[in-house]
Amino acid sequence: MKVTIVGAGAVGASCAEYIAIKDFASEVVILDIKEGFAEGKAMDLMQTASLNGFDTKITGVTNDYSKTAGSDVAVITSGIPRKPGMTREELIGINAGIVKSVASSLIEHSPNVIIMVVSNPMDTMTYLVHKTTDLPKNRIIGMGGALDSARFKYRLAEALDAPISDIDGMVIGGHSDTGMVPLTAHATRNSIKVSEFISEERLNQVAEDTKVGGATLTKLLGTSAWYAPGAAVSAMVQAIACDQKKMFPCSTFLEGEYGLEDICIGVPVLLGKNGIEKVVNIELTEAEKAKMQESAAGVRKTNDLLDL
Ligand SMILES: NC(=O)c1ccc[n+]([C@@H]2O[C@H](COP(=O)([O-])OP(=O)(O)OC[C@H]3O[C@@H](n4cnc5c(N)ncnc54)[C@H](O)[C@@H]3O)[C@@H](O)[C@H]2O)c1
Repeated sequence: MKVTIVGAGAVGASCAEYIAIKDFASEVVILDIKEGFAEGKAMDLMQTASLNGFDTKITGVTNDYSKTAGSDVAVITSGIPRKPGMTREELIGINAGIVKSVASSLIEHSPNVIIMVVSNPMDTMTYLVHKTTDLPKNRIIGMGGALDSARFKYRLAEALDAPISDIDGMVIGGHSDTGMVPLTAHATRNSIKVSEFISEERLNQVAEDTKVGGATLTKLLGTSAWYAPGAAVSAMVQAIACDQKKMFPCSTFLEGEYGLEDICIGVPVLLGKNGIEKVVNIELTEAEKAKMQESAAGVRKTNDLLDL
């Protein structure tokens, strides 16, 4: 398993670190446009290998796509992150150009690659890769829901005063402050609905805190978060590398599922060696269905800004 990570910034380096620590990939190549930056991050990470006990070989390159040849999975984290007060949608002007050219260079050197899009606005960037490349839809995956679900579980555990391992829950919909759809009615603690443990008002607060989870961190950190995004990417790459058929909410191109088409948005999927192996249809409540339609309208508004 060879994994390329484009962008050696906060998120890209975190992805490389978690992938290496889990030790399921033989090779990780980090590529950045900034001279020497990826080489530096790779060398620093390799110097943790004997301490953290991994054998994954990490190398860094400055914009040399020939070194990414034969990648099984490529993660696109290149582009600008948001600053406090910004929405993810405001990044489209700069990030669309970067994501489009990066995807095309990756495919030129690795025609069988599975592309995982992280750069924001992520659903629109995933749609852009779908519209501007020939890759089949199972090989284009947007990462957002796995992170948002991890944030949802964190907030639920806090509200229930429970260990996170007791909690299960999922966030679908668009990866934006207003578009996320935390599935509060489906969330459980050890198979018991969380509504048995906390009031409806508290549960609604958990959903609202989840939706602004990224913005909350951006305000605290001065830039967007990286540990949980890196962990989410590494779990998804591992599911592909180890053919786990594990379920994650991912942004994928829909053709009628959930009543939506010609859009990339977060829905539950199974990840395995072929990328997205199946879109999982779950029965949503009427309220969740309405929220999903609203979320899709928001994503479409951002998609309309693309120069396709
Ligand atoms: N989908 C998610 O859940 C999620 C979560 C967190 C961050 N993000 C997004 O990920 C992106 C990266 O965030 P970050 O905090 O790592 O930013 P960062 O600024 O730390 O890193 C971005 C890196 O991309 C590099 N880069 C820019 N243009 C490039 C190009 N054409 N080719 C190769 N490298 C290039 C930059 O030199 C920089 O090192 C942002 O768009 C951010 O909004 C998404």
